[in-house]
Amino acid sequence: MEIDYGLALADALGQGRVTQKALEGLTPELTEAQKWLDEKRASKELGFMDLPFQDPSPILQMAQEVRREFNHFVLIGIGGSSLGAQVLFNALRDPSSDKAPSFHVLDNVDPVKTAKILEGIELESTCFCVVSKSGSTAESMAKFLVALGALERAVGRDRARRQVVFITDPEKGDLRALAKEEGYRALEVPPNVGGRFSVLSSVGLFPAAVLGIDVKGLLKGASQALKSCERREVTSNPAWLIAALHYLYHTLEAKSISVMMTYHEKLAIFADWYRQLWAESLGKEGKGQTPVKAVGTVDQHSQIQLYSDGPKDKIITFLRVKNFSRDERIPSLYPQKPALAYLGGHTLGELINAELAGTASALAKKGVPSITITLPSVNERYLGALFMIYEVATALMGRLYGVNPFDQPGVEEGKRFTYGLMGREGFQEKGKEAREIWAKRKIGAITVKLED
Ligand code: PA5
Repeated sequence: MEIDYGLALADALGQGRVTQKALEGLTPELTEAQKWLDEKRASKELGFMDLPFQDPSPILQMAQEVRREFNHFVLIGIGGSSLGAQVLFNALRDPSSDKAPSFHVLDNVDPVKTAKILEGIELESTCFCVVSKSGSTAESMAKFLVALGALERAVGRDRARRQVVFITDPEKGDLRALAKEEGYRALEVPPNVGGRFSVLSSVGLFPAAVLGIDVKGLLKGASQALKSCERREVTSNPAWLIAALHYLYHTLEAKSISVMMTYHEKLAIFADWYRQLWAESLGKEGKGQTPVKAVGTVDQHSQIQLYSDGPKDKIITFLRVKNFSRDERIPSLYPQKPALAYLGGHTLGELINAELAGTASALAKKGVPSITITLPSVNERYLGALFMIYEVATALMGRLYGVNPFDQPGVEEGKRFTYGLMGREGFQEKGKEAREIWAKRKIGAITVKLED
């Protein structure tokens, strides 16, 4: 994997304060941040960096059972409890390779989507995997209840319970209690691993294994990347480099937006995962950088005008692959037509990467900094490595900003308000507060009437 950052340096851009010297000048701060992280890991307060070294046997064993027993697999979870699996499915699942169950995700509480998924599968051969570390997120609990209700109607109460797997905290929460009381199959989310840092725990690995993805390859890639994250210099440690570039661009050049633009459809959901990781970990106390997802080349025809000539508030990461698992040669059908002739003989893979190079160069000419990450190909090892590098970089960024990257107080308040609005016991006051605030939307309102 290569991380090219020349087009993020002042030399290449002909402007700005982010030089190689400035990057290296951040070494004391990065060293302190790394020490903080290592101490948290050593005291077992923080577990995501230990995940590559886990024994995945219980996960693999349960995945084998599910693959044997079911034709459909529905993941119920939201945020950190579903995005990692979605990245893995989109990037690595090869539908032609084996007979894995069909895969569906119930992340949103959208009633129409939920109904469509439930109606489109044979319930009697479906495994529902409910992922919730807390075992209390309203969206996931509601969809669990809806799915269980549908299952009970289709196969009866006892069998329904054998078609559900929980992934949750080993001790806390109602899902764990239900697993103990009613014998649901269950896997554990380590208590010291937060949702958005959990893709390499059972949260991401179990769905991956059910789908036939090489879980050991993911862990191996992550452990190898972790080794390179142990280096104590910004020019060879990928996590230090990513954190340093983003931090310096934010603090020295007011780049408050971090765009991740992927140039392979298989990597597009990785940008969603990154968006959550960066936003929820760092957006605190008035700090943080707004992460934006873009997909090349489509968003060249949507976003690039803004990136090029709009406010100079962005640093862009391009994510590309060198070798596509298959490529399509463009035939030379109209050699006499200039707009078509030059394309003949090239491949679509060549074109998409030329589009990236052209876009990055045009942006650099306008002084817009970019980093280009190149994966030799999309496979388990590179994905595992990428997850780990970004998780470490995010944790370091949190320390550089002086915020706790592992909590999410803003999300929790919204969850409490929702509990109150939906009548959960113990949250009456929160419900009252939410209703009072929500009512204020009517202080300013207009009605748009459409004539029949
Ligand atoms: O990163 C996080 O902590 C969150 O995005 C959670 O993953 C999300 O809120 C879902 O929480 P839970 O797994 O407890 O249902």
